[in-house]
Amino acid sequence: MVRYQLCTAMLLINFSPFPNLESDRIYLRQITPEDVNQVFEMRSDSETMRFIPRPLAKNRQDALNHIELITKGIMDNEYINWGIVLKGNEKITGMICLLRMQPENYRTEIGYILHPDFQGKGIMVEAVKLVIDYAFNVLKFHSLEAVIDPDNVASEKVLLKHSFVKEGYFKENTFYNGKFLDSVIYSLINPGKNN
Ligand SMILES: CC(C)(COP(=O)(O)OP(=O)(O)OC[C@H]1O[C@@H](n2cnc3c(N)ncnc32)[C@H](O)[C@@H]1OP(=O)(O)O)[C@@H](O)C(=O)NCCC(=O)NCCS
Repeated sequence: MVRYQLCTAMLLINFSPFPNLESDRIYLRQITPEDVNQVFEMRSDSETMRFIPRPLAKNRQDALNHIELITKGIMDNEYINWGIVLKGNEKITGMICLLRMQPENYRTEIGYILHPDFQGKGIMVEAVKLVIDYAFNVLKFHSLEAVIDPDNVASEKVLLKHSFVKEGYFKENTFYNGKFLDSVIYSLINPGKNN
């Protein structure tokens, strides 16, 4: 218990005020109920959700519930989720998050999704760069992991572009929709420092 408190104090996990991030082409900002249509379009699209073992949103209320859950997680400093905005277009084009934080191991997981209209344009590579910088240089995590479906070639390419390394292949370790699914774990060690 004492060790955990020491570690979390060092990690500075506090998302208030919300950390907006920015690169040349995109902003990462907090998702609000006004983003409901975009969130619904992403989470109800079976092709976009193909490799994400979560139920499809059936209606806008499901999307609103998702936004509410995200907002609570941020307020509780349990995880953080940003909306991805292309400069000049205030609608969110995607979402990116740090979840399943393990402060005691200085480790967290990264997850992301893009609206189908915006996939294949190199947007997620840019968003992931911002979140890696934030996770390592602001939150002071030591390592990041990503859990992907072995067939998710686009997601794997995004990770490899940021020098994530394939750490392991887990056979049938996820039970979803009546099927046992394989998953692959990639990880990235903070190149800048040792905690
Ligand atoms: C995975 C995802 C985030 C990638 O983001 P993106 O901005 O579209 O990625 P990029 O435009 O940089 O494309 C990455 C690479 O994958 C390729 N790619 C894109 N979509 C592809 C597809 N459906 N099948 C195969 N390759 C694909 C691109 O051509 C690119 O290849 P290149 O680097 O050789 O040019 C996005 O496609 C997405 O949201 N997918 C659905 C949700 C999802 O699977 N999230 C990840 C869960 S782990």
